Amino acid sequence: MASLFLSKFSFFLLLIIITLFFHSSHCDVLTRCHITSLFQFGDSIADAGNVIRIPGAVISAQAWGLPYGETFFHKPTGRFSDGRIIADYIATALSLPFLNPYMDKSGVSFSQGANFAVAGATAMNNSFLEERGIGHVPFNVPLPSQLEWFKSHLQSTYGSKYSTTLRNSLVVLGEFGGVDYWNALAGNKPEPEVRTYVPFIIDGIISAIKEVIQLGSTRILVPGVFPFGCLSSYLTRFADTNPNAYDQYGCLKFYNDFATYHNIELKKALENLRCEFPRVKIVYGDYYGGFRLVFRYASWLGFNPSTLVSACCGSGGRYNAGGCSSASTNVCPNPSQYVNWDGLHLTDEAYHRISNVVINNMLPKFGCYGLRNSSALSSY
Ligand SMILES: *[C@@H]1O[C@H](CO)[C@@H](O)[C@H](O)[C@H]1NC(C)=O
Ligand SMILES: *[C@@H]1O[C@H](CO)[C@@H](O)[C@H](O)[C@H]1NC(C)=O
Repeated sequence: MASLFLSKFSFFLLLIIITLFFHSSHCDVLTRCHITSLFQFGDSIADAGNVIRIPGAVISAQAWGLPYGETFFHKPTGRFSDGRIIADYIATALSLPFLNPYMDKSGVSFSQGANFAVAGATAMNNSFLEERGIGHVPFNVPLPSQLEWFKSHLQSTYGSKYSTTLRNSLVVLGEFGGVDYWNALAGNKPEPEVRTYVPFIIDGIISAIKEVIQLGSTRILVPGVFPFGCLSSYLTRFADTNPNAYDQYGCLKFYNDFATYHNIELKKALENLRCEFPRVKIVYGDYYGGFRLVFRYASWLGFNPSTLVSACCGSGGRYNAGGCSSASTNVCPNPSQYVNWDGLHLTDEAYHRISNVVINNMLPKFGCYGLRNSSALSSY
């Protein structure tokens, strides 16, 4: 029995490791899925250059300049990372080019989709936040406003044929909520009060999904939120003197539990939505689980296990959080060994590993191949 258990266990382990290392890039993917364009919504986790093109927009993370973009693009692109973000890895997995930001009006191509994500974007509109005394950036482009951008973009780019485009597209809706929660919690709202926002935020996400379905979308990826308690900015802002507040990786359990609560509620709501729209493929994007796998197998994946919860770019302190910009006094020379990039966003390498988990899970569910059949397995 023991050896049977062990072999099952190691097989499971092997699958996880394969999942973290590879994603399918077989050309069959594109032809079988008929995904010919991609539309991305979200906040700074998914912004690929919108906020830096909004006149007067100011945000604490300085993605306008280096060291943002240093690893992959070798210049700042407006992505909140040293390189690529999950949206880029998803595009690559579908053999699509990196999406251009909607705000780029310089004549770039939108023939294979567009990115509407804006750093600082909340799920809820400004009046909801203001009524509750939750802060937001002055240029906030919350989820409902990104949908307005989307609709006008569809009309102007594809005319009346936009529903054909949408039928052969993937919509990535989120994550959303990360900014609403951070703004409320960092603004001293007690957690029980912030918990009461969760149903509103889930409702907001669900209404947005219904709207893109009504417009003609047939495949939607809906990511959950990261384990907030493992982000350097949360760890700095909510430092706890009680060692039991931390898990084995040094993450704050309380804020991970909060993120899990949001994710569970989101998954339940998606389950209901699948009953309502049985012909639409709605897939949950497990950003939380992918992140936790990266921590669990950190050293195998080349991350430095002793700096898992520290930001690569910052200005010192226990977690090196507190703002990344070209003036940062403490930028690590090896971002690929870090998970946290600037306190609230992750490195190119961390996004890469998390993307592999999300992509391997979503491709079969969208009717594409997942792992490159079993060839990767049979070679073991
Ligand atoms: C803002 O969001 C709330 C909650 O979803 C909604 O009831 C309200 O009508 C919205 N207000 C505006 C101005 O859009
Ligand atoms: C993968 O498996 C499917 C179904 O078993 C098969 O039709 C397909 O040809 C295989 N693809 C490759 C690349 O081996």
